[in-house]
Amino acid sequence: MTHVFHSDTPPANAGGDGERFTIEVNGEAVAACEGQTVAAALIATGHRMFGHTPSGAPRGIFCGMGVCFDCLVTVDGLADQRACVTPVRPGMQVQTTPAREWYDGRD
Ligand code: FES
Repeated sequence: MTHVFHSDTPPANAGGDGERFTIEVNGEAVAACEGQTVAAALIATGHRMFGHTPSGAPRGIFCGMGVCFDCLVTVDGLADQRACVTPVRPGMQVQTTPAREWYDGRD
């Protein structure tokens, strides 16, 4: 499934009339725009859950400014990247963290 936005409705935090392209999120093409962060592209296309706590609670955007680390995703194979401060690039591959993927036994 491909998420798209209408040409007359730029995504949140679009950063102006930048180039439009797609990124891949969990293997799915997602519309993005130059000047957006990964978090903005995800939120603009309906993605709200970026990861989970060790107990399985879903996490997403909280501070939106790089402080809380609640928005960690894997970007082009690099784990634990803050989606809210990582700019999108054409062809970028993003993976959200499924529940308990990194569970270490402490709860
Ligand atoms: S939402 Fe807080 S660091 Fe990204």
